[in-house]
Amino acid sequence: MTDEILRKKAEEIDGIIESYLPVPEGEAATVIKAMNYSIHAGGKRLRPLLMQEMYRMFGGKDDGVIRPFMAAIEMIHTYSLCHDDLPAMDNDDMRRGKKSTHAEFGEAMGILAGDGLLNYAFETALKAFDTISTNTTDMAAKTKRICDALSILAAKAGIYGMIGGQTADIESEERSDVSMETVRYIHENKTAAMIESSMMIGAVLAGASSDEVSAVERIASDVGNAFQIEDDILDVVGSDEALGKPVGSDEKNGKTTYVSLAGLEKAKADVRSLSERAVKSLGELGGAGTEDGLFLTELIKSLVERDR
Ligand code: IPE
Ligand code: IPE
Ligand code: MG
Ligand code: MG
Ligand code: MG
Repeated sequence: MTDEILRKKAEEIDGIIESYLPVPEGEAATVIKAMNYSIHAGGKRLRPLLMQEMYRMFGGKDDGVIRPFMAAIEMIHTYSLCHDDLPAMDNDDMRRGKKSTHAEFGEAMGILAGDGLLNYAFETALKAFDTISTNTTDMAAKTKRICDALSILAAKAGIYGMIGGQTADIESEERSDVSMETVRYIHENKTAAMIESSMMIGAVLAGASSDEVSAVERIASDVGNAFQIEDDILDVVGSDEALGKPVGSDEKNGKTTYVSLAGLEKAKADVRSLSERAVKSLGELGGAGTEDGLFLTELIKSLVERDR
């Protein structure tokens, strides 16, 4: 998968997200500016892309229902980055090639912009119900799908998901006794949970069966864990310019990472094998049989090679 294709996809997604952003006016204008600043800074838009492609792979056609969820997942992800960069957390001043939100707007607005994005994500996702009117065919089934998608969106970002992972990540700082089991818990929750959310919501909204959604969750777990191991690798061997964030952040904060425990070569090999397992399972799910499934396969493969 070329960078050019991914950039074009990200641009299309930018347009979708843009259409849901709040207007910076009124008494709350400053926090809205800070929210939009962090979203506009860019990013790969990987989570909405995975969601959209999974939706299409399962035959989803109505863009009206998936778009608010695509915007919502990127809002939650961006909030997690705003907070992750705060002085009390990783204390990083650069994100997505620009000053991080707290560095640009001050710490209080960095916190509030994160809060605002998290809440606005749910205000946005709820707009999916607008696609249903009383004369919609299959009204009950469509309503149920949206409710299920909202439950996933909420749970995977919460204490049994991303926030849980961030908690363990922070508590493991400056400790010499962090085990691989703990690092795996951290990766599964701080990062894989949001990838699972993205791909599962795509499947659910397209009407996938519960067995299929469980299979998607396992695939997304492999993709997410590979993604975070690669993030740990890039924190050691990447560059600030390509990543748009400071390398060496983990070492600065005394984090035990997959790389510090397993070594660079084993970490790279594990990224590859997790990615291969995800691609194989996706094939078994029928992923090789559709154009969108093939795109998704190439996308997952390309994450192994990424430099940002
Ligand atoms: C960064 O996520 C945080 C992690 C979970 C590793 P991304 O690498 O997807 O960041 P953006 O969205 O492209 O900036
Ligand atoms: C953060 O992990 C995952 C989040 C939930 C934001 P990192 O702290 O490693 O992410 P980066 O490297 O700052 O993007
Ligand atoms: Mg962090
Ligand atoms: Mg960080
Ligand atoms: Mg990192």
